[in-house]
Amino acid sequence: MNIFKTKTELSSFLTELRKKNKTIGFVPTMGALHDGHISLTKQSASQTDYTVVSIFVNPTQFNDPKDLEKYPRTIDKDIEKLKQAGVSIVFLPNVTEIYPKKDSRIFDFGNIDKVMEGKHRQGHFNGVAQVVSILFEIVIPNKAFFGLKDFQQYVIVKELVKKYMADSNIEIIGCKIIREPNGLAMSSRNELLSSQERENASIINSTLQKAKTLTGEKSVDEIKNFVIQKINQNKFLKVEYFDIVDDTKLEQIKTWEEKSQKVGCIAVFCGSVRLIDNIYF
Ligand code: PAJ
Repeated sequence: MNIFKTKTELSSFLTELRKKNKTIGFVPTMGALHDGHISLTKQSASQTDYTVVSIFVNPTQFNDPKDLEKYPRTIDKDIEKLKQAGVSIVFLPNVTEIYPKKDSRIFDFGNIDKVMEGKHRQGHFNGVAQVVSILFEIVIPNKAFFGLKDFQQYVIVKELVKKYMADSNIEIIGCKIIREPNGLAMSSRNELLSSQERENASIINSTLQKAKTLTGEKSVDEIKNFVIQKINQNKFLKVEYFDIVDDTKLEQIKTWEEKSQKVGCIAVFCGSVRLIDNIYF
């Protein structure tokens, strides 16, 4: 396994591969790796010649310093998991490597970073766009793999490439959500839940699944109320938002008759841990 801590070393390694006409897949992560992350590396391996995984807990996307501080860091275990998954190139930069000076770029994504996560985590997506654009410039991948668990992030990264990095020709691939056996979407943040909380958090997904079966008999607003009330009935859980939006502009859906592809996106507090999930209707 080749582990790089500096962008210069990684770039020159990748330049050699490109000279040999090898394609490069990229999976950016913040570590505390689980099977969701590994599924992205598998997809990358099946579609490209070499896969690069980065592990970098990006400070600019955390709007709450406590959240940044308590973000799980399990680097030795992560390396072990990547070895087992057959990943051969890992990028582990430190903060000054990525941000030699303060990044004050402000990205304009129109509506898509103002709703849902964008509304409740001010500046979050600007920080994601900063780090992803920097990482893309270092790795210059042919394809980059993002989980649909962070659905809004996936939509924004596609817009980032389209609007700000169009010459790069990076293809963004959305990969399906990997879940725990009880249905809870895998997340590094699940590590912070007690076993009781983890069990109760499975209600998020089961409620979304149930909602999907009710679209024939309930209006969009009724489904929203159903989901929010059902989850809030559980004493471990508190819904922050549940929105049903179209899958490109992230505008609110009003009726099921609308033609666009519809996605229900939810954020729920389980104790102090914030969980997100979504479902295609
Ligand atoms: P992180 O939360 O570590 O996630 C890295 C990638 O794994 C993201 O594309 C995310 O959507 C995907 N992922 C997480 N859980 C998943 C699951 N259960 N199933 C499928 N994919 C899953 O997302 C970030 O890091 C950061 O914002 C990053 C893009 C690295 C920028 O800092």
